Amino acid sequence: MKTEKNCNTKKIILTGDRPTGKLHLGHYAGSLKRRAELQDGGGFDEIYIMIADAQALTDNADNPAKIRANVTEVALDYLACGLNPDIATIFIQSQVPELTELAFYYMNLVTVARLQRNPTVKSEIQTRGFEASIPVGFFTYPISQTADITAFNATTVPVGEDQLPMLEQAREIVRSFNTLYGDTLTEPKELLPEKASCGRLPGIDGKAKMSKSLGNCIYLSDSADEIKSKVMNMYTDPKHLRVEDKGDTKDNPVFIYLDAFSTDGHFKKYLPDYQNLEALKAHYERGGLGDVKVKRFLNSILQEILEPIRTKRAEWEQRIPEVYGILRKGCNKARAVAAETADRVKKAMQIDYFG
Ligand code: TRP
Repeated sequence: MKTEKNCNTKKIILTGDRPTGKLHLGHYAGSLKRRAELQDGGGFDEIYIMIADAQALTDNADNPAKIRANVTEVALDYLACGLNPDIATIFIQSQVPELTELAFYYMNLVTVARLQRNPTVKSEIQTRGFEASIPVGFFTYPISQTADITAFNATTVPVGEDQLPMLEQAREIVRSFNTLYGDTLTEPKELLPEKASCGRLPGIDGKAKMSKSLGNCIYLSDSADEIKSKVMNMYTDPKHLRVEDKGDTKDNPVFIYLDAFSTDGHFKKYLPDYQNLEALKAHYERGGLGDVKVKRFLNSILQEILEPIRTKRAEWEQRIPEVYGILRKGCNKARAVAAETADRVKKAMQIDYFG
């Protein structure tokens, strides 16, 4: 049996993704790579990775088949990126009903006005065109997300910058709960990507965000040819027309990707004329460096990163029953932990009638 003290001193990760599509390079840069590193670093006692199907349904209620299909895709992407089910518990949100139960009680601790102020919810309402017709379930998803985090006593939530308001909201709920009902829940902290460029990778079209709905993604499952053609057609500085022109590297997705992915080792291997990214940027900015050369370099790097992921993914695709075995085991483990938290929560709230 876990003691209360144990829960408070352990370092526990929870994070997850909505299964609305296959995962792409933006997910890889922003979270997947880091998760695998955190897992392999051994600094955490427990790691939970959740496929947030219930959350995905809050704005896809009319398309359950899409969510169902993408649960498998996301699981494949996780395994391909090196998440190890022997260390990280990979599970499906809907199969842990305690999460909805907790969310129901946390709803009493949050006002409508507070939810309306949440910047992430605000901007998502806009992008989804929900202004007048937002489903209640979608509106309350920050509360459900707090349930996800607290159910596993998570201390650490690796997320992109766009999820910061969610963590703020979660901490507020935890504090309210603990103040009202006694010290029960753990306050979580976010863990942001190390490099700003990783936090929000732009699309290959130069739009602010890589996103399936914008059709500007490089997917983890893309073939070598697809990657190459996407990279060679990437948006760059529109004013950099001739090689001699001065170029901008700041709002240029090719250079933002290089910020996120290139290492000095890559320069040695593929572009030895330049010592590092600073030198390459300086040349582009003063003029005399063509886009094609930079794009070829980026392509080499992305091929090197994505090839092993694609190969591993293809292997797992041949072993779907095993993937479902992993998910089932993960769901059972997650459910046991969440049930323990739900018991503590109900006891604190004095709704533990039968002992
Ligand atoms: N909102 C996250 C996303 O859009 C998914 C998610 C659900 C999540 N619950 C979470 C992330 C809890 C971190 C913690 O992908």
